[in-house]
Amino acid sequence: MKADKKWVFTLFFTAFISIIIFITSIYNFSSSYTLTNSHKPISTVHRGTGYPPAFAYYISGSRGDGDRIFRLLLAVYHPRNRYLLHIGTEGSDDERMSLSFALDYPLVTQDDMSHAFSSISRDANFIDHTSDLGWKEGQRITPIVVDPGIYLARRAQIFRATEKRPLPNAFKVFTGSPWVILSRSFLEYCIFAWDNLPRTLLMYVNNVILAEEVYFHTVICNSPDFKNTTVNADLRYMVWDDPPKMEPLFLNKSNYDEMVESGAAFARQFAKNDPVLDMVDSKILKRSGNRVAPGAWCTARRSWFVDPCSQWDDVNVVRPGNQVKKFEESLKSVVDDSRVDLNQCS
Ligand SMILES: *[C@@H]1O[C@H](CO)[C@@H](O)[C@H](O)[C@H]1NC(C)=O
Ligand SMILES: *[C@@H]1O[C@H](CO)[C@@H](O)[C@H](O)[C@H]1NC(C)=O
Repeated sequence: MKADKKWVFTLFFTAFISIIIFITSIYNFSSSYTLTNSHKPISTVHRGTGYPPAFAYYISGSRGDGDRIFRLLLAVYHPRNRYLLHIGTEGSDDERMSLSFALDYPLVTQDDMSHAFSSISRDANFIDHTSDLGWKEGQRITPIVVDPGIYLARRAQIFRATEKRPLPNAFKVFTGSPWVILSRSFLEYCIFAWDNLPRTLLMYVNNVILAEEVYFHTVICNSPDFKNTTVNADLRYMVWDDPPKMEPLFLNKSNYDEMVESGAAFARQFAKNDPVLDMVDSKILKRSGNRVAPGAWCTARRSWFVDPCSQWDDVNVVRPGNQVKKFEESLKSVVDDSRVDLNQCS
């Protein structure tokens, strides 16, 4: 009885909180509507064929990465996109820390992204992969690990079994970069899992260190319907030490020209608030302070006290900027390479 009451209270409390959030959002919506858009209604987002591609971002960071995540969000914001932000609570393992995505920064605007991606197939999956496991076979794939974070509320050190397991023979293991750009159709295949493969592999990678470097790569390369859609690239600019370490070198102003010439979509990795990020903001993203990177959807007259994105125009049109040519060229060249390269997923 007592427990029941507690549960009801929790339910009530949750309902109350959600109502508050709901009302707040309506209030914000109507106030910005009346203040900034007295003539035109805010345009609705249209997605699908005939409209520019939209992106869903998963941005992840460790404890203390809050500011970085916020800056990255402002740099990649577009009303057509969706964002899922994640901050790991403890991040006690170095390996887990190394995976924070907030160390990346875009080298193109979201209008550039949409524009360039509208000229290629929407079924393409940008996923850097190889079946040549090298040292990863013995250090990442065959050891059996248990991550307590999956089962317990508190994260602790990953538990390593003393036994190893042989490589599976029901499927071929692939590995590669954890930074991927996946198509909606492939993600639906992974999530709805009408085929057993995505589910089977999810159970398998439960006990693999850094599953982010194995899961999607192995699923896609073992799926006859999707392996032809892979483009073997992660669209990132990185500089590696010689010999390479776990993570690429930190980029600074001395890398700016080469980075911009590369035609990559993102660069990695940056120290928090490195001055080179301000260069990217002012020269490429045209972004300042705590404002989002503007796009064709922003229509207010730009000034030091007015954020151009405080007024929206049609969010279904994009206007590419000065980096788009380089980016489009490099995008087309990796897509063409994958077409002639019959070694996709080999
Ligand atoms: C994938 O490409 C190969 C080789 O070009 C072709 O034989 C096969 O039919 C393609 N599969 C699909 C599902 O498109
Ligand atoms: C930039 O990075 C390079 C390579 O890591 C380093 O040698 C150089 O000293 C750095 N420059 C500045 C201004 O920090």
